[in-house]
Amino acid sequence: MNAASVFFRVMNAFGKPIIMNVSDRIDEIRVDISRLKSEGKRIGFVPTMGALHSGHLGLIELAKKNSDIVVVSIFVNPEQFGPNEDFDRYPRQLKDDLEKCRSAGVDLVFTPERSEIYDEKKFLKIGIDKLSDHMCGGSRPGFFEGVLLVVNKLFNIVTPDIAVFGQKDIQQFQIISKMVKEFNHPVELIMAPIARANDGLALSSRNAYLSDQERKAAPGLYRCLQYIEKQIQSGVDTPKLLIEHQKGELEAKGFKIDYLNVFDSKTLEPSETLREGNNYILAGAIWLGKTRLIDNILIEF
Ligand code: PAF
Repeated sequence: MNAASVFFRVMNAFGKPIIMNVSDRIDEIRVDISRLKSEGKRIGFVPTMGALHSGHLGLIELAKKNSDIVVVSIFVNPEQFGPNEDFDRYPRQLKDDLEKCRSAGVDLVFTPERSEIYDEKKFLKIGIDKLSDHMCGGSRPGFFEGVLLVVNKLFNIVTPDIAVFGQKDIQQFQIISKMVKEFNHPVELIMAPIARANDGLALSSRNAYLSDQERKAAPGLYRCLQYIEKQIQSGVDTPKLLIEHQKGELEAKGFKIDYLNVFDSKTLEPSETLREGNNYILAGAIWLGKTRLIDNILIEF
């Protein structure tokens, strides 16, 4: 155990100690996990970039229901940020995050430094064919390649039986599902529903960037998605004009549109005509000042 590894010890209702192990080292995490696996424990994994909120706690809850041991990783992955993106200002609050993990009953937290995860020079990359051409991949080149790189590593380190990701990042979920299938990772993926504030805003670590005024306006994206969903459910099968109109409404309220559209849930390509029996993702990304927000609704047509 190195100096950076910490045991968090509290008492449960019966006065028995509950221990949460925190380590920033791959070798330590591996030793812990192989011991737990040899005891027959099923490992549940929730990868995060920290700045934990109730949405993450929902993922942890779901992991707990589907496993014996919950592992959370906290790592702001530099590979998934573009050169002009918010890597430097991304919220980092490890102490608070560890406290939240402890209260949520997490067993193991992996908090690596950059050098523990990445060598100075990398010789290999993961490429994505088509699935990242649209939605967030369309406006954040390299983002999903960076996500796959780190999730691939984390799966190899933690070797989980199940891993939980949120529906808010639906494109991430679909692309990771493909990686799991094509690279034969022996893990079952579970998608957790989007956690929302009372006014409908999807919870996100980036909501912390919003000014009071922007925070008040922010649920407008979800309301707009709900409106489009309602029209589609009542029979609109070519939603292009409807969407263009809604974009105008959002722009009038001060939102800058990154994208707003209906996408095929399998190919993640825009769908101009919706066909009965198909599944779609109605998704949007907008800028409110310097904050980029995303949200989506799943549609069975
Ligand atoms: O969804 C996130 O927080 C990140 O993309 C993930 C999956 C932890 C990879 O860095």
